[in-house]
Amino acid sequence: MTRIFSGIKPTGHLTLGNYLGALRRWVEVDQHRADALFSVVDLHALTVEHDPARVRRLSRQAATLMLAAGLDPALCTVFVQSHVDEHTRLSYLLECTATDGELRRMIQYKEKSARARASGESVRFSLLSYPVLMAADILAYRTDEVPVGEDQTQHVELTRDLALRFNQRYGHTFTVPRATRPPVAARVMDLQDPTSKMGKSHDSGAGIVYLLDDTDAVRKKIMRAVTDSGREVAYDRDAKPGVTNLLEILAACTDRDPQELAGAYDSYGALKRDTAEAVVELLRPMRARHAALAADSDSVEQVLREGAERARSMARPVVDSAFRAIGLLPA
Ligand code: TYM
Repeated sequence: MTRIFSGIKPTGHLTLGNYLGALRRWVEVDQHRADALFSVVDLHALTVEHDPARVRRLSRQAATLMLAAGLDPALCTVFVQSHVDEHTRLSYLLECTATDGELRRMIQYKEKSARARASGESVRFSLLSYPVLMAADILAYRTDEVPVGEDQTQHVELTRDLALRFNQRYGHTFTVPRATRPPVAARVMDLQDPTSKMGKSHDSGAGIVYLLDDTDAVRKKIMRAVTDSGREVAYDRDAKPGVTNLLEILAACTDRDPQELAGAYDSYGALKRDTAEAVVELLRPMRARHAALAADSDSVEQVLREGAERARSMARPVVDSAFRAIGLLPA
């Protein structure tokens, strides 16, 4: 059976980008067709300045939202990365497989380290090694497919390179995974700056729809989205990035084709109104279930405990075999 792994890092409140780019497909497709694991990858949240209490809060919230969105523990494994030691055990072996040069070429590292330096912050070493830990997350489960948004493609490519290199040097140990992406909305853009990604850790929330925003806030943010010069509604990322972003969001929410939708509108206003309503309706049931689950944190913790146990039992033999293959004495 196909094995799927993916994760969300608790560095901020989850966004519409996380939902359309990843979570929604995990719920609607992936958990039904494969042996799937979905993780709150909390160790990744420590790679930038963080407040311990906030990371704890956001981790719990991310797990609750994943369940509220419809991940079903009877169908898939939901767990917190730091509860399963195999990830960090394997990460070290992969650090001994990766090179300094290939890690420094990672776009996210370049962007995030430049931003940190520009604001006078130090850059944590783990920001550089981050994609190696991500590779360990994936390879520890002999994963076939990694459903992610477009921004993670390069990290999954690196994971493939590390798996191939390790297998070639030390004997076949890992499955070489591949990234899968949603047909539309693989890169949802910021509503105020449609040339940059809608990301949970951006400073201002005006261009970001958070999954737990109330209905009014969602409507306002979408109605105030920056659009492009001219009046024609066209699906064209370069010439009309703002309108194209709205078309992609609407297409994803309504399972339509963005190009076709473009032909159905003759004003930006109508497009914004329909997009706002579609997003509100899409998020409504999740917000209601989140409220109920958040009031029952014991049951969420129980799911995470059982998920970690299951994940550990899957990862342990794989990581043990990597330890042996690379030349370490069995304990
Ligand atoms: P993270 O937490 O930034 O995002 C979680 C998932 O949401 C997708 N995503 C988006 N998709 C479309 N448009 C957007 N604006 C948008 N923003 C985020 C991401 O592509 C991702 O699929 N490094 C990963 C977490 C991770 C991981 C893993 C993922 C750690 N280990 C192993 C897969 C497998 C990250 O930072 O995702």
